[in-house]
Amino acid sequence: MAINKKSMVSLFLISISSLLPFPISALPKGCSFDAMYQLGDSISDTGNLIREAPIGTYSAFARLPYGETYFKKPTGRCSNGLLMVDFIASALHLPLLNPYLERDADFTHGVNFAVAGSTALDTSYLAKSKIIAPVTNSSLSVQLGWFKDHLQSICYTQTECAHKLEKALFLVGEIGGNDYNYAFFQAKRIGEIQSYVPHIVQKIKDAARKVIDHGAKTVIVPGNFPIGCLPIYLTAFRSDDPAAYDELKCLEGLNNMAMFHNDHLQRALKQLRKEYPDVTIVYADYYTALQWVLSHAPSLGFEEKSLQKACCGTGGDYNFDLTKMCGAPGVPVCPDPETHISWDGIHLTEKAYKYMADFLMHNIMPEIQCAI
Ligand SMILES: *[C@@H]1O[C@H](CO)[C@@H](O)[C@H](O)[C@H]1NC(C)=O
Repeated sequence: MAINKKSMVSLFLISISSLLPFPISALPKGCSFDAMYQLGDSISDTGNLIREAPIGTYSAFARLPYGETYFKKPTGRCSNGLLMVDFIASALHLPLLNPYLERDADFTHGVNFAVAGSTALDTSYLAKSKIIAPVTNSSLSVQLGWFKDHLQSICYTQTECAHKLEKALFLVGEIGGNDYNYAFFQAKRIGEIQSYVPHIVQKIKDAARKVIDHGAKTVIVPGNFPIGCLPIYLTAFRSDDPAAYDELKCLEGLNNMAMFHNDHLQRALKQLRKEYPDVTIVYADYYTALQWVLSHAPSLGFEEKSLQKACCGTGGDYNFDLTKMCGAPGVPVCPDPETHISWDGIHLTEKAYKYMADFLMHNIMPEIQCAI
């Protein structure tokens, strides 16, 4: 190919950077989703894990400083404020999605089934490969079960249910990131981890197929982040070899792993589009979105010296220590989270999510008939 991917990306980036901040209010009336349904993990959990985990377990997300910036209190979101799913809901003029496990919540405009720490593969399946899912057993298929239960509460026949879902936007993921996280942090070899990719992708594809079979007409399926750019990985897999790092100072081998997953996922989505020509199936490129934020960080208002440091955390070059994480007693928080991309070493700040969402929506909105 004459133009490599990187230069195409930067060309595109130059052309959209002048458009930021994104004119969210300017969407045409033709774009009329009446609900959103989210399956996923901590990237989109708006409060399920903190309702499901026994008091005391993983309660960090139930404590300040989580939520400090936007909500002024913890909500169970793994950030200082809003997540990408919140920005997408706002752009579609929908209220923020309530978590499924908030029993008396209003679900008229959809439900968020995402659970922080959840996996694409069932935890019993992971256990066969000696991978422990330490946070939750509410994997993708459990969340699909919740979705089916929820449907039974809003419609009776298959036709009626399908009709109800026609104008809903489905977000299937990001999910699968934790399958890799747990494998990497439980010392699996890269070759073995690569061998999970087809299974994880199949699971995500099956989930998309299930929501489509229930009547979904618009499905967004996000890929994985460039995990080699996250403080948790940068800390655990730091290398003395400069060649291990790419031009954004991220660990190249880990990023390649994420790309490998993303390539498989995109191929799976291509097949799915053939199977369901009347359904809009869109890939959300989280990988490029975060790389774009990283490479434009100074002009977006992030501090050059803090690009890879967690805002909330302590220790080492990346302000991250697995044994003293954000939310634990005595762990400091940066005074201005707006200057940081990473919130707690694993998840991003509200501001980083906002820019990622802007980038993604610029691509996705036209594909889902919401021209900008
Ligand atoms: C998940 O299920 C297994 C087997 O039933 C159980 O031992 C484990 O405690 C559960 N994990 C969580 C985080 O609930």
